[in-house]
Amino acid sequence: MTPILEVDNLTKRYGELTAVDGVSFQVEVGEVFGLLGPNGAGKTTLISMLTGVLPPTAGTARIGGHDIRTAMDRAKQINGLVPQDVALYSTLSARANITFFGQIYGLRGQALRDRVDDVLRIVGLTERADDRVETFSGGMRRRVNIAAGLVHQPRLLFLDEPTVGVDPQSRNHIFESVTQLNRERGMSIIYTSHYMEEVEMLCSRAAIIDQGRIIALDSVKNLVALLGGGVIHVGISHADEALLAQIAALPIVQEALPLNVPRDDEDTEPRTDGAVIKIVVEPGQDALVSIIGLLNAEGVTITSLEILNPNLESVFLHLTGKKLRD
Ligand SMILES: Nc1ncnc2c1ncn2[C@@H]1O[C@H](COP(=O)(O)OP(=O)(O)OP(=O)(O)O)[C@@H](O)[C@H]1O
Ligand SMILES: [Mg+2]
Repeated sequence: MTPILEVDNLTKRYGELTAVDGVSFQVEVGEVFGLLGPNGAGKTTLISMLTGVLPPTAGTARIGGHDIRTAMDRAKQINGLVPQDVALYSTLSARANITFFGQIYGLRGQALRDRVDDVLRIVGLTERADDRVETFSGGMRRRVNIAAGLVHQPRLLFLDEPTVGVDPQSRNHIFESVTQLNRERGMSIIYTSHYMEEVEMLCSRAAIIDQGRIIALDSVKNLVALLGGGVIHVGISHADEALLAQIAALPIVQEALPLNVPRDDEDTEPRTDGAVIKIVVEPGQDALVSIIGLLNAEGVTITSLEILNPNLESVFLHLTGKKLRD
């Protein structure tokens, strides 16, 4: 079967800055494909080119076989876009907003009304359909935005960070909608996020984008397996080269490095104690006992201990040396 999306060396330059740098990948019909990258990675720029919002500088893509440089009108009938920034008329009802988007796609009369009812149901807003959008929470507005992107029954839906700034209830609704659209209606979905756990939960495959380039692309399972084992962060009173070398020499340890990346999210306490070392261990091994044993034997005080199971977050950190969220 023709892939629903074939991206071929797609590039966008803004003067000196290359926002999307020769990106190529394919998405098969029926996939939920994750695009993962930090702020400024080029995710929105990539999606904007694929949906006809921005012209590419170089390269191209085909959507359902239609080249976006020569047949964007055809591609747009297949595509649905839920943009990162919510664009709605706040003084109009949810129903009126979605109806407006349906009209843009040429829907009229009963067919339009049926479609609007259907997408309101999908995003769980049937009961609030006739209320003005200005009375909605941020999460509900985002769900209206999703409904607007769905009204013309796209075969390929682009969701650009759909859960940013969204309350937990709306977030769950969005996850359910994505799963339902994919499983029950066979919709292919490109899901952009910098929340690893969302991509791990929703997507079969994912591309990790950094500075406009794809730095890894595989099944979520294989991406996580890339890292091999787990990562242990040990806070100790003092670390020197000799100690790091001793830890690294333990049979189950792959590497031991002083941690020089910024500490976790803002909600954790800033670290005031000595050094933190990052220890990468082999898969399926209980490394902790021997690491603690070694530190004890050396008379080193352990001030903190954090065991990070391999996940996309640690894969990203491993590949780029950066945290995904700043
Ligand atoms: N109109 C523009 N003019 C100049 N530079 C731009 C323009 N739009 C985006 N950029 C730059 O292109 C790069 C990629 O931006 P983009 O919005 O695609 O990133 P993103 O991955 O969507 O980030 P975020 O997670 O913050 O939404 C950034 O360096 C950004 O500053
Ligand atoms: Mg963006």
